[in-house]
Amino acid sequence: MQQRALGPFNVSAIGFGCMSLSHGYGPGPDEEDSIRLLNQALDAGHTLFDTAALYGFGHNEMLLGKAVMHRRDEFVLASKCGMFRDAAGKREINGRPEVLRKICEDSLRRLGTDVIDLYYLHRWDKQVPIEESVGALGDLVRAGKIRALGLSEVSADTLRKAHAEYPISAVQSEYSLWTREPEIAVLQACQTIGATFVAFSPLARGFLTGCLTAPQQLADTDIRRNMPRFSEDNYPANLALLHEYGRIAKAAQCSMGQLALAWLLARDENVIPIPGTSNRDHLIENSRSAEIALSQDIMERLDELINRHTVRGERYNAASLLEIDTESF
Ligand SMILES: NC(=O)c1ccc[n+]([C@@H]2O[C@H](COP(=O)([O-])OP(=O)(O)OC[C@H]3O[C@@H](n4cnc5c(N)ncnc54)[C@H](OP(=O)(O)O)[C@@H]3O)[C@@H](O)[C@H]2O)c1
Repeated sequence: MQQRALGPFNVSAIGFGCMSLSHGYGPGPDEEDSIRLLNQALDAGHTLFDTAALYGFGHNEMLLGKAVMHRRDEFVLASKCGMFRDAAGKREINGRPEVLRKICEDSLRRLGTDVIDLYYLHRWDKQVPIEESVGALGDLVRAGKIRALGLSEVSADTLRKAHAEYPISAVQSEYSLWTREPEIAVLQACQTIGATFVAFSPLARGFLTGCLTAPQQLADTDIRRNMPRFSEDNYPANLALLHEYGRIAKAAQCSMGQLALAWLLARDENVIPIPGTSNRDHLIENSRSAEIALSQDIMERLDELINRHTVRGERYNAASLLEIDTESF
C-alpha cells in the first residue's frame, strides 16, 4: 500500500481503526475472529492500528496486545487517553496529569508493550488547561513510555496552544464527505505546525458504503442510534444522496466505500483515513482504496453532492457536542 508520513513515522495511507471490535457498534466479533482479522489487516498492508483506553473499557487494547504484539515491529501503534470508564462504570473525560500518567501505565500493561508510538489526548478536558495535559504527555515521551503526541477533536486554537507546550505530531478528528468541520481551520493548522491529520469515521460510520439502509435495525447498544444524522427524521434524506453517489462510484469504477476513502486521500496529502471493520472482505476492499485515483471532475461532483448544506442532522447529539472542541459552521 502507498505510504504517508504520520508525524515521525511512515505508515500505510489507510490505517486500521480497531474500535468496532470492542465498542460502539453493538457486540463485536468473538475474540478468535478479531485476532484473525487484526492479523489479516497487517497482511493486507495496514501498518497503523488505532485503539484507545476507552474502547471496550480496556478490552480493545487487550485484544491488540493478544493479537499482534508478536508482530510489534510491523506497525505503528496509536492509542488514546483522557476518556475512560470511572469507578462507577460511567464514561469520564479527565485530563489531569496524574490521571493521564495512570491511564498510560494501564494502556501499556493491557497492550503488552513497553512503548506506545502515538498517544492521543482523546478529548480536551475543558476543566484543565490544555498546556497542563499536554505537558504531562510530554513528560511521558521524555520517560520513554510514548514516542509522539496527538490530540483528538480539538479546534485550531487549542492545537496551536498545545503545540507551543510540546510538539503535536497528529490530530485525529472526524472527517469525511459528510463531516467537513476540519476544512474550516484544523487542516490548515496541521499543515502549518507539521502535524498529520488522521480522519476517523472516514466512511461516515458506514453511511457512505451504502450498506447501512435501515439504522432502526441497529443493536440497541449501537451509538449511531443516538446520532441525529441516523435518526428517523434525517436518515431518509441522507440516504437519498446515495443514489447519485452510487452513480459517481460506478463512474470511478470502485465501491461506494472506496470512493469515500479515495476522496479523503485525494483531498489532502496530509490526511490518513482509519476506517474500521469487523469483516474480512470489507477490510480488503478498504485497503485497495489507496490504489484509486479520482479525476478532478469526480472530486467536484462529490464536493457538490455531499457537504454541510446537503447533509441533514448534527453528527453528535447535544450532550456529546458539548464535549468536543472543534469549530462549527
Ligand atoms: N477519536 C475519536 O473520538 C474517534 C471516534 C470514532 C472513531 N474513531 C476511530 O476511527 C475508526 C473508524 O471509525 P468508525 O468505525 O467509527 O467509522 P467508519 O470507519 O467510518 O465506519 C465503520 C462502519 O462501516 C462499516 N464498513 C467498513 N468498511 C466497509 C465496507 N467496505 N463495506 C461496507 N461496510 C463497511 C463497518 O461495518 P462492518 O464491521 O460490517 O464492516 C462499520 O459499521 C475507529 O475504529 C476508531 O479507531 C475515533
